[in-house]
Amino acid sequence: MLPPAAAAAPGAEDPTAQALAALRAEVLPCTRCKLHRERNQVVFGEGSPNAEVLFIGEAPGAVEDQTGRPFVGPAGQLLDRILVGAMGLQRSDVYIANINKCRPPGNRAPEADEVAACLPYLRRQVDLLRPRAIVCLGRTAAQNLLGTTEPMRNLRGRDLAYAGIPVVVTWHPAYLLRDPSHKRETWEDIKRVNRLLGRPEVPGATPG
Ligand code: URA
Ligand code: URA
Repeated sequence: MLPPAAAAAPGAEDPTAQALAALRAEVLPCTRCKLHRERNQVVFGEGSPNAEVLFIGEAPGAVEDQTGRPFVGPAGQLLDRILVGAMGLQRSDVYIANINKCRPPGNRAPEADEVAACLPYLRRQVDLLRPRAIVCLGRTAAQNLLGTTEPMRNLRGRDLAYAGIPVVVTWHPAYLLRDPSHKRETWEDIKRVNRLLGRPEVPGATPG
């Protein structure tokens, strides 16, 4: 007897979606670094396989670790408001991933060995997505993706690239929640992203 046909995953006909699903399946049981011991869920990343813009954060927090989804806690709610308010985009229009796929205990920054173990997965995500722009949210994302130790003040507002893809560096939304005085600068950074994508400015927009 023939086995029953596997249920088609949404977008299964899209080769990028298929390749991302295969990579996700590879990453979910990952034990390459010590973060696997305390995680509840691997947070692979999510969004449109046809996204024009890829947002990269640091690592999952508590809510992300519980749900397996990136940026769904308080910082993620601000990111959603920035997307809608400053870009006219929904979260489902973009792709959202992190440097590290597992939550560091107590939300400490990921350590060098943990980043080194996980970064190849993000590089493969970028290769599959080939977005038109990458937005690094905060220092950890920017420094590790770009392989630099330059401080945020040197990275923001500059024409940067990763694998030939333009990169815009902006503040992490969790940092904006602690210090809203930087929201104006985030707005300037997002305007750079809109220009790169050839997107119209959102009239009267504010970055959350
Ligand atoms: N902060 C991050 O950097 N990534 C998330 O997914 C959530 C919070
Ligand atoms: N430190 C970070 O890592 N990111 C920010 O956005 C601000 C301070």
